[in-house]
Amino acid sequence: MKDQLYKHLRILQELGYEYLFMEKDMNLTEEKEKKLKEIGRAIQECKKCDLYKSRKQAVLGEGNPDSSLVFIGEAPGGDEDKLGRPFVGRAGKLLTKLIEAAGHKREEFYITNICKCRPPNNRTPTPWEMEACFPYLEKQLQIIQPKVLCLLGATAARAFLKRNVAITKERGSIINWEGKLLYLTYHPAYVLRNPDAEITLFEDIKKAIELAIEK
Ligand code: URA
Ligand code: SF4
Repeated sequence: MKDQLYKHLRILQELGYEYLFMEKDMNLTEEKEKKLKEIGRAIQECKKCDLYKSRKQAVLGEGNPDSSLVFIGEAPGGDEDKLGRPFVGRAGKLLTKLIEAAGHKREEFYITNICKCRPPNNRTPTPWEMEACFPYLEKQLQIIQPKVLCLLGATAARAFLKRNVAITKERGSIINWEGKLLYLTYHPAYVLRNPDAEITLFEDIKKAIELAIEK
């Protein structure tokens, strides 16, 4: 297999090809990383809503900038605020476990939140806080260009649909949004409080992944 590949590459080289698409893709990925980092710098200084007052740090998100699937939660909690990474506390560990149970790694995807700063006492972000922060998420999505957004919990769904969402009724729905597919499911923190819902969240995560990576 490898020998054959080298043979083909040598033929291409003799024909005068100097670059392969792989190299171009790498540059594109690096470019995306750079643009995402710029947003990361902007949010650390952001004072658009009052959440800046109590945060230790804003949390941009992390993962594969080329992912066809982005997981979107509500806002950082205490662990995320401390570590500067999304979904690393108890809810995050459950999300990571379910992605792995579906045969994948969290690094394959991109993971972020509607609000980039932790609300005091982990309260739900207000509609104004979500609106103020949403343009950062929109910029992230413009850069990453995913196919599917897996919305974790009612708050994330509300932020996109601009209406109230009863997540127990609407989970599993797939909705078209600006050329992408929204996949609505439970928040892992809800599943920690309602363990019977774990199997449903797992099935939803599996379906969202299949939807994103199907050919
Ligand atoms: N809950 C969220 O909604 N987001 C996180 O990053 C962690 C917990
Ligand atoms: Fe800015 Fe968003 Fe943080 Fe509010 S939550 S201060 S809008 S980065």
